[in-house]
Amino acid sequence: MASTTIIMAIIITSMAAAIRLASGAALVGGSCSGGAGGCGAGLRCTSCVPPPGTGPAACARTTPMDPKAAAHGAALPFNRYSWLTTHNSFAIVGTRSPLGSAIISPPNQEDSVTSQLRNGVRGLMLDAYDFNGGVWLCHSFGGKCFAFTAYVPALAVLREVEAFLAANPSEVVTIFLEDYAAPGSLSNVFNAAGLTKYWFPVDKMPSKPGAEWPLLKDMIAENHRLVVFTSRKGKQGTEGLAYQWDYVVENQYGSPGLVDGRCPSRAESKPMDSTAQSLVLMNFFTTNPSQSWACANNSAPLVRRLRTCHDAAGKRWPNFIAVDFYMRSTGGGAPLATDVANGRLQCGCDTIAYCKSGTCAMPSSSPAPSPHGAAPGPAAAPTPSTIFSSSSSPEPAAASAK
Ligand SMILES: *[C@@H]1O[C@H](CO)[C@@H](O)[C@H](O)[C@H]1NC(C)=O
Repeated sequence: MASTTIIMAIIITSMAAAIRLASGAALVGGSCSGGAGGCGAGLRCTSCVPPPGTGPAACARTTPMDPKAAAHGAALPFNRYSWLTTHNSFAIVGTRSPLGSAIISPPNQEDSVTSQLRNGVRGLMLDAYDFNGGVWLCHSFGGKCFAFTAYVPALAVLREVEAFLAANPSEVVTIFLEDYAAPGSLSNVFNAAGLTKYWFPVDKMPSKPGAEWPLLKDMIAENHRLVVFTSRKGKQGTEGLAYQWDYVVENQYGSPGLVDGRCPSRAESKPMDSTAQSLVLMNFFTTNPSQSWACANNSAPLVRRLRTCHDAAGKRWPNFIAVDFYMRSTGGGAPLATDVANGRLQCGCDTIAYCKSGTCAMPSSSPAPSPHGAAPGPAAAPTPSTIFSSSSSPEPAAASAK
């Protein structure tokens, strides 16, 4: 509880200080106008006063800090990193189905998968169906895809992932498939998209209690930079598609999972505290996607939820933070929550910005870890806070492992 209060105080303090410090480019919470609106790197100008788009615009974060640009670099096991994850990454506002039908299923995101990846999203949740002679990303009715729920052929989105991995040789992307496709059809599409060369092999995934994943730097060096999980059992032997629930625990998705103080596992998952699964995925979104809800809830309530799910997951911080409308918040939003999880996972600090050589040092003269794809800038750096420094005890990386 005390720690939650501290984290919230940091968010508020750093937001207020950021506005005060603004010179030139506006920072988090600073007012802005139109389009880019003069916000700094890793931010966009948006209105989140309900209903979204009507109130005064402010700069909100779109981009978490790069968790491999902190003290430990890429030298930790993969399960010691947290990644911003988009729920239904393909269900984008304003999409017209290539089939010409208007899409009636509600969207969950606002920008393309390419843009999501450029903003530092590293987890994609995709619903895959056999449809119209191929595999489509779609919203289901009873496990079936229809023209009016079919967003895009899976090949198009997987090609975007391939282009990103090719252009960014140090990045690792994880795909979670809600898999309704027949055996064989998805591997055809992954092949056609040129993704096989990045494939993280199932036999390298740990499945013993407490076992760690390979080091992130080794995954990068070996070009095992695409981790794919399927919800469908039985594709592991034939297609090399890892069955998600053997390696990941995940809490209940949608509105039923949002009950305060609880973080129960979803039906398919082992209990949250099952240690044979080394990765923890936290869902945080409503059953009916809502921009207003994301605006109001993707900041402090999301950070509070991290703590609840951490406690439920046997004191493990989520490796994947899955949200709708990841760019919506009144300030730090889901990118900030990702920084908090990374700080906790990597060095026991309240944000990755404070992880310095095994201590929770505050960034002062030296630049904080830079946001993905952007120069180091004050926009992403939480501001030093006396509340933080007096109440947090650094945990050396070795001691906080597990
Ligand atoms: C934020 O989430 C809570 C809990 O789900 C909900 O009651 C509230 O209406 C949400 N805020 C908005 C503006 O949607």
